[in-house]
Amino acid sequence: MESFEFNKIAGAVLATALLVLGLKNFGSELFRAETPEKPGFAIQVAEVGKTAGDGAAPAAVPLPVLLAKADKDKGMASAKACAACHDFTKGGPNKVGPALYGVVGRKIGSEAGFAYSDGFKAMADKPWNFDELDAWLKAPKEYIKGTKMAFAGISNAQDRANVILYLNSLADTPVPLPKP
Ligand code: HEC
Repeated sequence: MESFEFNKIAGAVLATALLVLGLKNFGSELFRAETPEKPGFAIQVAEVGKTAGDGAAPAAVPLPVLLAKADKDKGMASAKACAACHDFTKGGPNKVGPALYGVVGRKIGSEAGFAYSDGFKAMADKPWNFDELDAWLKAPKEYIKGTKMAFAGISNAQDRANVILYLNSLADTPVPLPKP
């Protein structure tokens, strides 16, 4: 009888241990699923009608802070999504979109020989500064109504800062970054 009791207790302990182990593994599975091994960037091409946001991102970090820790090489990698429509080289041609060398600090919609949309023409006396570019790349269609840039935007704020830092490097004299 006593050994029967003991078996029952031992069985219960074992079962609990297995359950705990199981939960632990299951938990780490969940965790892995949320953290991809290779951090990627979330560029959604041609996703219309969805409000671009920062998803589950916590309280918004100011752009100067994001720019200060931005990674130009990551920005360059993300900007591959733009290269179908934009040339980045000095003196490069307009394609589906205007040439982007030197775009930071340049007047909006001012690249010679490119037929901009009316929405762009309405903005034409403002320069592309960091804030403008951030708002534009977050949600092009919301930022400039009627734009013909068929690109949904970059929802992650750090990815946008990376791309903006890369764009800023495409210049004879890059614009000084804002102080964080
Ligand atoms: C499907 C083609 C396409 C893609 C992809 C695209 N763009 Fe554009 N982009 C355009 C077009 C077209 C315009 C001109 C918009 C207008 O006239 O309304 C434009 C305009 C711009 C401008 C304004 C330039 C100026 O001279 O004022 C910037 C900056 C820009 N794009 C950056 C980007 C970046 C950065 C990416 C990638 C993250 C990107 N674009 C992806 C087509 C594209």
